[in-house]
Order: sequence, then structure tokens, then C-alpha cells
Amino acid sequence: MLYHMPTKLYYGQRCLFDNKKDLILGEKALIVTGKNSARLTGALGEVISALDEYDIPYVHYDEIKENPTYGIVMKGKEIALKEECDFIIAIGGGSPMDAGKAIAVLTANPDLTPDDLYNAETYDVALPIVAIPTTSGTGSEVTPFAVLTKPNGRKSGFKSELIFPDVSYLDPKYMIKMNKGLTLTTAVDALSHSIEGVLSKKSTTISDMLARESIELIYEYLPKTLNDLENIEYREKLAIASTLAGMVIAQTGTILPHSLGYRITIHKGIRHGQATAIFLPFVMEEVDKYEPEKTKMIKKIFGNIDKFFEFLKELGVYDFDITFTDEELELFTKEVMSSSHVKNTPGIYDEKKIKEMYKKISKI
Ligand SMILES: [Fe+2]
Repeated sequence: MLYHMPTKLYYGQRCLFDNKKDLILGEKALIVTGKNSARLTGALGEVISALDEYDIPYVHYDEIKENPTYGIVMKGKEIALKEECDFIIAIGGGSPMDAGKAIAVLTANPDLTPDDLYNAETYDVALPIVAIPTTSGTGSEVTPFAVLTKPNGRKSGFKSELIFPDVSYLDPKYMIKMNKGLTLTTAVDALSHSIEGVLSKKSTTISDMLARESIELIYEYLPKTLNDLENIEYREKLAIASTLAGMVIAQTGTILPHSLGYRITIHKGIRHGQATAIFLPFVMEEVDKYEPEKTKMIKKIFGNIDKFFEFLKELGVYDFDITFTDEELELFTKEVMSSSHVKNTPGIYDEKKIKEMYKKISKI
């Protein structure tokens, strides 16, 4: 058994301000963000004043969109090379952090294409990475994963030990401005990470311990946070829960709900966390048939699988209306069946069963 999480993680209010020296991992930084959240949360301002204090120059690349593409990360690489940046500071939700990780590898290995990222044997170096989350869901601040959208529209993650961030700062005050919708979808992404980690064939004693704490925190504090969005104590609980969930998938990876959800995000525009969480009860039912031991802890927390479904429903996770054409069902099913997530999910899955999962969510 192995537990490996090499990221230095600072957490709690003011953690960046109090430990800003550790942000300096080179001589010139590429700051990677989206258009708004890094600025609005105050995280960008704190980073820039820390860099100024230590006389570290920087370039700001602020064009990361949700579900980053090859084009977006290649542009970041070109800027980093031209400006001779030697470390990355990624600020934002999963998209800027994942794009920052891809840019860190591509800049250190200029001959690589984004497709090569998926073959970790083709590179053995990356720029150092600082990650500063402004949402609590992805867990990317403590994982060796990054998810990109390929030119064929397929969302797919790559894994390399080199993209564990070197330093992460988890300050709940950056999350306090998240609106209700974003709070919900990011928190149920974290919930999916922990629950999938427990169900996964790769779960371990340590990943289960982290997952249990994370699930209990989300169960207690997500409903409270949705009714009191600016409560910093609640935000801190969800931030910890999300990072614990990241530590879980750093060991186990994600399983079937993530693969099912990727298609809904790309083709139906439903945000990642929600698109994934909607499948959790159905996959849990399947796992329960074959390996009931795996669902025991989750049933203990929520009561039973039906109550877990009701919990998600009351949160508004199923508040959408989608239908699928036969062609879409064929395409999604083929993509899911060929994804690595299936083989780590206990149970027996064939095309018929995958199609049924999609049909279930189109009826709710
Ligand atoms: Fe996720």
C-alpha cells in the first residue's frame, strides 16, 4: 500500500499572507487565471503584492475558460517560453489549475504536444506549480491530475506525479463570493470524489479515512452554506472537505460517475460537479449488488441509498431537464465503455446498463 501526496498545503484564513515566501518558486512567474474569479476574490491581488514584495517579475495569462482546450494551454506555453517564466501560479477553480499544470509540463518540454501529456513516460520534468483554489470542489490543488478537452470534444484527464502542485494555499475567504449555483456544483464535485474513492476498486484504508471525514463535512455543512453563503466558518469546512476529497482521488482516481458526467458537461452544458453527482446513487446501487461492503460507510452516513438520493434531490442537483437522441446515447455509451473509469468500478457494466443510467436521469 502507498499513500503519496507531496504537496505542501497551507490552509486556513490568511494562510497565503502568513506564508507568502513559499510562493516564490523561481525567478519569473506565469500567473494563470480565468477572467474574473482570481480578481474578484482578492487572491490575485494578494499574490501580486507578495511577488512585488520579493521583487519577482510576472506575466498574467487570464484567458482560461471552463473546460480548457489544447489551444488554451498551448497559448499559455508560448507566453511562458517567450517571457522566460520558470514557475506557474494557478489561481481559480479546476480549469485554471488544470490548465496551469498542463502549461507547466508543456513549457518544460517544448517539443511535446498536448496529446503527449497523456503519455507520462514522454516527459520527466515540469515547471514548479503553486495552486490557489477559489472554489471548493475540484481538489486539483492536491492531485496529480489535470482534465483537458481534446479537439474531438472529448474531456479527458491525464496523470503525472510531476503535476502535484509544489505548494497550495487553501484560504476560505477566496470562496466566500461564490454564488449558490457554483457553491452547489463544486461541493457535489467534491462529494463525488470522496464517494467514488470509497467505491473504487483502488480504495485504501487511508483514502477511506479521508473520504469519511470529507463526506460527513459536506453532508453537514453544504445545506448550511447554501442558506448562509458568506459564513466563513462554513466555507472553511467545505474547503477542507474538498481538499480531503482531492487527497482521496489522488490515491484512487475517479470512477464511473465522472465518465458518465463528462458527456453531459460537454454535450448538454451541465456543470461538471452536478453532471457527475446525478449518477452517484445509480452507480452506488450497482456497486451494492456486487460489493455491499463498499457502500456500508456511505449508507451509515446518509441512512440508505434512497436517503442519499433524496439529499441530492433536495439540494437541487436534479433540477434540470435533458433528453437524449439515439445517436447521443450510442456515442456517450461507446465513450464511457472505452474509458478507464469502468474497470475501477465494482460491478458488471455493458452498453445496455450504461444507456439505462443515462435514461434514468432524463426521466427525473
Ligand atoms: Fe470532479
